[in-house]
Amino acid sequence: MLFEPWRLGRIELANRVVMAPMTRNRADRAGVLPDSAVTYYQQRAGAGLIVSEAAQPSAAGQGYPGTPGVHDDRQEAQWAKVTDAVHASGGKIFCQLMHTGRMSHESFMPPGAKVVAPSPIRAEIEVETIDRVMVPAPVPTELDQDGIDGIIRDFADASERAVRAGMDGVEIHGANGYLPHQFLSPGTNHRTDAYGGSPEARSLFVVELLRAVCDRIGHDRVGLRISPGGQFNDMADKGNDETYLSLIDQIDELRIAYLHTLRRRSTPLHEQLRGRWSTTYMLNTGFHGPSEREDLEPLLEAGQADLVSVGRLFISNPDLLERWRHGIERVEWDESTFYTGGDTGYIDYPAVQH
Ligand SMILES: Cc1cc2nc3c(=O)[nH]c(=O)nc-3n(C[C@H](O)[C@H](O)[C@H](O)COP(=O)(O)O)c2cc1C
Repeated sequence: MLFEPWRLGRIELANRVVMAPMTRNRADRAGVLPDSAVTYYQQRAGAGLIVSEAAQPSAAGQGYPGTPGVHDDRQEAQWAKVTDAVHASGGKIFCQLMHTGRMSHESFMPPGAKVVAPSPIRAEIEVETIDRVMVPAPVPTELDQDGIDGIIRDFADASERAVRAGMDGVEIHGANGYLPHQFLSPGTNHRTDAYGGSPEARSLFVVELLRAVCDRIGHDRVGLRISPGGQFNDMADKGNDETYLSLIDQIDELRIAYLHTLRRRSTPLHEQLRGRWSTTYMLNTGFHGPSEREDLEPLLEAGQADLVSVGRLFISNPDLLERWRHGIERVEWDESTFYTGGDTGYIDYPAVQH
């Protein structure tokens, strides 16, 4: 089933294996990708769909060095080269949009901007500065209504720009402890206004964000990634099932292209999410061992997912689908070059000759 086509919104995917979004920190200080990114993504166009590395929808949304932006013309021009190359090789690509919220540092902030979050609660971990020094995470400034409205507008603007750059759609990064997740989770959202205090209220930011992006580029070009129960980035999201069920009930009617859920193992919540969701359901089960073909196929067969996403194996096997199709051994990834910049460990993993 991995090799079967799948209809996703308005596009047809050649297979059901998605390249998961992966930050590679190769962009310059202006958030512009290098030309090597064009090669990197084109090499991986055999995936049914590529979800790009996380890109900031505004300068103030950045929280890691070397992540690309999708908020100015130079950034857009470089993304357009990427999408052209992927399409020329028969692939499809969505742009992942990430605002890091409290997982950032003032060194990334443009003049006048602050590190923001739903509530002024710092992550009890270190963050990287723009000069790649590890420092304690800052206490974020609580967003006011204007701040919330402005960020939602930035996401809509960036989505429009992404589509103009040739993206087949955008994925809103609502997982792994970044801004939308910070709204969803009671540990990071202590608000007493319309955006906090109940499962419905904690979902509101994501609901409004999705509505704005759907209005701008069309519902069938929008995906959402979530990680219910996730603890990455000092999140305490366990026991927050009601928020995710409320979120799903509120957004299902938008009929976005897909929901992309990260999980290690299935729980009753995951079964409920899958059961209630009425468009494409994508699963990522990674983060421990590699996402192996033998583990992914049964998920499709059992109907637990329509699409599966694979991360690290796509870094070291640009032609992963070909290798799986022909039973060719795959290459191990080198973790030491995931985030370091440069071409090594980026565009030098070979495709097999057969
Ligand atoms: C180098 C690297 C960068 C990542 N960057 C992102 C990212 O930008 N956005 C995101 O949602 N997940 C990110 N992830 C998580 C992956 O999308 C995926 O969920 C994870 O790697 C588990 O899948 P795997 O076991 O198949 O690698 C990243 C993972 C890795 C290894």
